[in-house]
Amino acid sequence: MELKIFPDGDKASKYIAKEIADFISDKNSKKERSVLGLPTGNTPIQVYEELIRHHNEGLSFRNVITFNLDEYYPMVASRKESYHTYMNINLFNHIDIQKENVHIPDGSIPGDMIKSYCDEYEEKIKAFGGIDIQLLGIGRTGHIGFNEPGSKKDSKTRLVELDEKTRLDALSGFRDLNFVPKKAITMGIEIILQAKKIFLLSLGKKKAEVMNKCFFNDVSSERPASYLQEKENVEVVLDEGASMLIPSYKMH
Ligand code: PGA
Repeated sequence: MELKIFPDGDKASKYIAKEIADFISDKNSKKERSVLGLPTGNTPIQVYEELIRHHNEGLSFRNVITFNLDEYYPMVASRKESYHTYMNINLFNHIDIQKENVHIPDGSIPGDMIKSYCDEYEEKIKAFGGIDIQLLGIGRTGHIGFNEPGSKKDSKTRLVELDEKTRLDALSGFRDLNFVPKKAITMGIEIILQAKKIFLLSLGKKKAEVMNKCFFNDVSSERPASYLQEKENVEVVLDEGASMLIPSYKMH
């Protein structure tokens, strides 16, 4: 695992977007497809803005396959609070990705079909040869995707209960806490860790404490992001705010 600290979120986001854009461009030139794992939340918004800018400058997403990390449950895709809507507004409506190449967990699946649906979601990822680049945010609970504390390293894509801290952090998107879903479908830790390259982006002072806990402490299921410590090909990318409590660091 490598730690990269940038002076601000703008530079950190541009760095990651360029890495992704260069990867897609290289694959496009070989007529190969790129498989991306994508997050939602506030953190990746600038990365998506930059990817749109790369698209406007000529980068094609026609050979890009995407798998989103999670979706609230229950949640109808057309609702404004859904991660389907988030992805359309923040990325997909602005690039030439093919609809059939986009995969986001379906938060409207009936309860008795969730298990088989989640197994199929993982099978699809594997059928594409796995995820080439996985972009991650991190929650204040140490979650990646919605893998909250207690998630095992070999956990599968599944229905999970959201931590109360996570629901509070999600509040701004909903009318009040009663409307914030209590559950979500999330890609499991195991399939996330199988990605060939992972960027975890963490921005702002409010993430400083969780960064310290997850990356300068033992690996523990109580801090799911800490599993990334054991993996190569992981870049943890921070701005100054998020790196505030980290003992010593290298500025990029
Ligand atoms: P945020 O969420 O980007 O809105 O801070 C990150 C996460 O919960 O993974």
